Amino acid sequence: MKLLDNISQLATCRAEGGQGDIHPIAGAALVWEGNRILWVGPEAEVPEEFRGAGRMDAQGGLVIPGLVDCHTHLAFGGWRAEEFEQRIRGESYLDIARDGGGIARTVRLTREASEEELALKARGFLDEMLSLGVTTVECKSGYGLDQETELRLLRVYRRLAREQPVRLVPTFLGAHQVPAEYRDDRAGYIRLLVEELIPRVAREDLAAGCDVFVEQSAFTPAEAREILLAGRAAGLALRLHADQLSSGGGAELAAEVGALSADHLEHISERGMAAMARAGVVAVSLPLASLYLAQPPMPARRLIEAGVAVAVATDFNPGSAPSYHLPLALTLACTLQRMTPAEALKGATCYAARALGLESQVGSLEPGKAADFALIDAPDVNHWLYHFRPNACRATVVGGTSRAGVLGDGGGDVPR
Ligand code: NIG
Ligand code: FE
Repeated sequence: MKLLDNISQLATCRAEGGQGDIHPIAGAALVWEGNRILWVGPEAEVPEEFRGAGRMDAQGGLVIPGLVDCHTHLAFGGWRAEEFEQRIRGESYLDIARDGGGIARTVRLTREASEEELALKARGFLDEMLSLGVTTVECKSGYGLDQETELRLLRVYRRLAREQPVRLVPTFLGAHQVPAEYRDDRAGYIRLLVEELIPRVAREDLAAGCDVFVEQSAFTPAEAREILLAGRAAGLALRLHADQLSSGGGAELAAEVGALSADHLEHISERGMAAMARAGVVAVSLPLASLYLAQPPMPARRLIEAGVAVAVATDFNPGSAPSYHLPLALTLACTLQRMTPAEALKGATCYAARALGLESQVGSLEPGKAADFALIDAPDVNHWLYHFRPNACRATVVGGTSRAGVLGDGGGDVPR
């Protein structure tokens, strides 16, 4: 049994209440045994039976639930730095995609990469994410777009789930774009997805979810509906890339098919917001992607006011969001989307876990949940997201075991 005390603030982030209710405890202690949390509360009230637990000193830091990045494209071949410059010079994301760049370019590079190469590269990303306090990561396929490479990407995730500590939640995104070889046979590609790939991925338990990119350059809502219904029939949770570059009915479709989340939503319609609120679909905001594409972000305030839970994630990918810095995404959600630090944190913990269907296990610090947490070198959540630093995380614990940094070590800039 272990007890962490001398915590200046502990944000439990339990579900109760709304977006801004993170249920903070000042002067807190946290008790866990094995991989489960036993108790959380004010230090002065630690129950007798836990007082003999092995003690660790948080040195006046902030404790938050392990961060949940509920939208990444973690494994891919190559990079696309030249497109970064092309966009700066004025070409649009869709222009570049039309000329064979964008997703199609990463597909070519990913098909050339071995399972070994893809795993090694993604493993490096996960190590750095862990050091930032991230303990659960959703990871999409979608840069293979043929049977062999899509399965290779999902096998990379299966292997990494065994070999390293970050909890992985794989999603099948065969519907990221129609691959070049099917350009004149869209229906044929959709048939391949619906009749072969989705059933196989589900049968081999290679993914927990199924995602579709609904966009002019990718799939229409009608095509997406067919693919998502096949995913649902195979027992996969549903999520959508919706209304990112144009308003296309993606949010409405997410509500109609009972998706766990609709992501991006920079161009969401009023009807889409109301439909998502009614259906309880989580809106996943990806402010790094909006920033890199220099477009206004999802209208998070309006979604919150409409009664939608807003999660915040990175969208890490080699094109529109080449960064996996989730704390940076949170600071951007505050400054660009006017989410308070507490609202942003709830979006990367409790609501991100909800978007993955894992709310009963991770995303909040309460008895019975996984002992996944991060010790942050800041006195409280406001200070942490206001004073952005490359890495304010002192230690990351997954399943009760310290996996990055040093728990109980002193440090940096906590004003005392
Ligand atoms: O989430 N929107 C679609 N997919 C990614 C971009 C992928 C890419 O550019 O490679 C996204 O932004
Ligand atoms: Fe994405």
